[in-house]
Amino acid sequence: MAHAGVKLPHEGFSVNRLGHLVLDGYDLVELAEKFGTPLYVVSEGRLRENYRRLADAFKAHYPGETIIAYAVKANFTLAIIRVFALEGAWAETFTGPELHMALMAGVKPERILLTGASRLENDFREALEVRVGLIVADSLPELYRISRAAVELGAEAKVLIRVNPALEVPTHPSIATGVRGTKFGVDVPSGDAFKAFEEALGLDGVRVLGVHTHIGSRIMRVEPFIEAASCIVDFAGELNSRLGFKPEYLDLGGGFGIPYKPEEYSEALNLNLLAEKISEAIIEGFKKNGLRLPKLIFEPGRSLVGDAELLLAKVRNVKETPSGKYVFLDASTNHLTPVLLVDQYFEIVLANKADRAAEETVSFAGSLCFTADVIALNRRAPKVEPGDLAAVLSVGAYCKSSCMVHNAQPKPPTVMLSSRGAEMVQRGETLDDLVARDLIPPGLYHASSEQS
Ligand SMILES: Cc1ncc(COP(=O)(O)O)c(C=O)c1O
Repeated sequence: MAHAGVKLPHEGFSVNRLGHLVLDGYDLVELAEKFGTPLYVVSEGRLRENYRRLADAFKAHYPGETIIAYAVKANFTLAIIRVFALEGAWAETFTGPELHMALMAGVKPERILLTGASRLENDFREALEVRVGLIVADSLPELYRISRAAVELGAEAKVLIRVNPALEVPTHPSIATGVRGTKFGVDVPSGDAFKAFEEALGLDGVRVLGVHTHIGSRIMRVEPFIEAASCIVDFAGELNSRLGFKPEYLDLGGGFGIPYKPEEYSEALNLNLLAEKISEAIIEGFKKNGLRLPKLIFEPGRSLVGDAELLLAKVRNVKETPSGKYVFLDASTNHLTPVLLVDQYFEIVLANKADRAAEETVSFAGSLCFTADVIALNRRAPKVEPGDLAAVLSVGAYCKSSCMVHNAQPKPPTVMLSSRGAEMVQRGETLDDLVARDLIPPGLYHASSEQS
């Protein structure tokens, strides 16, 4: 979508006659005045649209059941998890706390999938006690622990085993998981994955139901997903022919990328093509191997929440330097940690000047005490002045959920927009929250200092 001053990522956005950026009919300048800044703003409508687009694509192409398990790690604001639960989503949770957040948001335990990288018996006991739908084992030691926990509880664990297809995955190396040598899953090419299934099939308390993989995040092309699906289909064929194991579930993880730069808005991942090609690979492969179609699971995070949330931040100060103009915001990179972790680009629009053409080049900085605290370098913008309102777009994935505390800056609140109104769904952190876990031992408190 293009407006006089800016290109916008989706139909929920517009610019009103005051030149203000509007989301789902809400003037963002008014929202900032009402709730203060920095402020995360999430669109319930966009969350639902993102879910439905993916679900509908698979409904149209895959004759079996497709389960969409929202990857809670992307953004665990309870109201967001709740919206997806109401849409019919499962939840993919990576840790005990994520699991409990999904339960608190009303996800039924049987619709929770517990993945993870290194769990102890206790973690599995807890998952079995709340009766999660599926547990994804990452390694043989984990399988033994699941078995022990299940036997001890007299339960049966429904298990998928995470495999690593060891492919080339076109994304930032820190978030490529399905490549050779990462810490995740059991390796397919070396035969380790086969051995894990062989062993797991004989474990007490463990009912192996399928294969899991997740090749990485922020992947913008269809091909890597097709390649992964084909690899898993071949592997399923091998499990059937050599072990007589017939997978009921194929879980292909998440990883669907979203456009962050305006020039990418027209090149979003084609979900319809993705669903068509993945379905084709599975239908053909399973037919060839004489297997019944499995239930498909996807675990999208970013593609469901990424472009549904933005961060509003006020311009505190502008400063000319010999190497350019810095615009200091009241939000910082600790609220947008992917900038620091994976060099993430976030588009920034001046929400109170959204109808104005760009006339200068500026860098947007946060107010923290380290040099890398720069949110965006050398961006074109209308003339920026203190008091302007910046909207950092598409921050829904992995920003709030990996928000760090730095310089004791509290975490901002979140407001959700819907036909019910603009509702606070997470309050901002306070000084009391920041010190809530601290204790000064009485002996230290009452000790006299040399200065007193
Ligand atoms: C096991 C697993 N599933 C799903 C996801 C979600 O990925 P994305 O947000 O890219 O869809 C992740 C992300 O790290 C993951 O580790």
